[in-house]
Amino acid sequence: PSDMGSDLESVLLTEQQIHDRLAELAAEIERDYAGREVLFVGVLKGALMVMADLSRAMTHSVETDWMAVSSYGSGTKSSGVVRILKDLDRDISGRDVLIVEDIVDSGLTLSWLMANLASRGPASVEVCTLLRKPDAMKVDLKLRYIGFDIPNEFVVGYGLDYAERYRNLRVVGTLAPHVYAT
Ligand code: PRP
Ligand code: MN
Ligand code: MG
Repeated sequence: PSDMGSDLESVLLTEQQIHDRLAELAAEIERDYAGREVLFVGVLKGALMVMADLSRAMTHSVETDWMAVSSYGSGTKSSGVVRILKDLDRDISGRDVLIVEDIVDSGLTLSWLMANLASRGPASVEVCTLLRKPDAMKVDLKLRYIGFDIPNEFVVGYGLDYAERYRNLRVVGTLAPHVYAT
């Protein structure tokens, strides 16, 4: 495999930018949930880096749980029909739930997930996403915490994959054309 850095066409977000923004969001979350215990729900697999760094930027202990979901069906992903591959380990009734995502693209995955979690009787359901693509969103979603708005381009790194690769890049960037050519 080639060096990851040479597969990048451009860097959209550096390690430092991501780190600094997550610190700001963590501080906001702590202010907003002061005196309440928030449950972070990470969406596998893309959210793994955001979950790791956002949760460690908190000064209070947070409970964490994970869901894995998959879009059904023909061709393009994000049909909006979603299947649960791994459900939460715990009941969330009465809990303040914060869904942690790497990116909101069409918004269809999250739209389904928010409705699904809301049906379980939590005290609240909010979203923290590192990235949002305003020009790609197909549904109107209330996203409480947003790291960065980015253009409607395919990006990888910091949890985001291309065919399960590049999640381990420390930056968020776009891939060079030669990567897609093989
Ligand atoms: C990606 C991303 C979000 C979702 C956003 O996950 O991590 O979860 O797509 O897409 P949407 O807004 O158009 O619904 P993916 O399904 O690629 O799985 P992964 O997290 O395991 O990479
Ligand atoms: Mn994902
Ligand atoms: Mg993916």
